[in-house]
Amino acid sequence: MKPGSELRLYCPAQSQYVAPIRHALAAFLEALQVDPGARDDVTTATGEALANVVEHAYVRSSSKTRDVQLLARIDRGGRLSVYVSDRGSFIRRKPLPGRGFGLRIIRAIAQQLRIDTTRGTCVSMTFEGPAFLEKR
Ligand SMILES: Nc1ncnc2c1ncn2[C@@H]1O[C@H](COP(=O)(O)OP(=O)(O)OP(=O)(O)O)[C@@H](O)[C@H]1O
Ligand SMILES: [Mg+2]
Repeated sequence: MKPGSELRLYCPAQSQYVAPIRHALAAFLEALQVDPGARDDVTTATGEALANVVEHAYVRSSSKTRDVQLLARIDRGGRLSVYVSDRGSFIRRKPLPGRGFGLRIIRAIAQQLRIDTTRGTCVSMTFEGPAFLEKR
């Protein structure tokens, strides 16, 4: 694991890009020697944030640019931060019937979840543990 390593991706906020983004993130983590279990955790949580952008971000937004940005960054001290950002509008509401799992899944997996809605929505997730420590 190399502190400072980053992966940045910009894509249209469309469902056909979600799996390729997840795969690119998994490949990035594999190159950094993150073990498969931790990789699956990160890609599962990130997949939920990406699915939310595709489904919700631009429903109530007049933004002409409907894209999604992923930034994954290794911090010092065994921590991975993943940011999923869009230029849409966060929709605050009670969970729809039988729904509302995505953010719960992220909370269950990530050590920290923050949702910043100052400009569009930025979901930031941090993952900590030995899997994210620098390998020598
Ligand atoms: N990027 C986003 N832009 C706009 N609204 C969002 C975004 N992410 C989440 N939300 C809002 O938060 C709610 C809760 O998200 P969550 O992923 O928990 O549930 P869901 O997407 O409604 O259902 P599920 O994930 O179970 O399919 C969404 O219904 C939506 O209102
Ligand atoms: Mg969801």
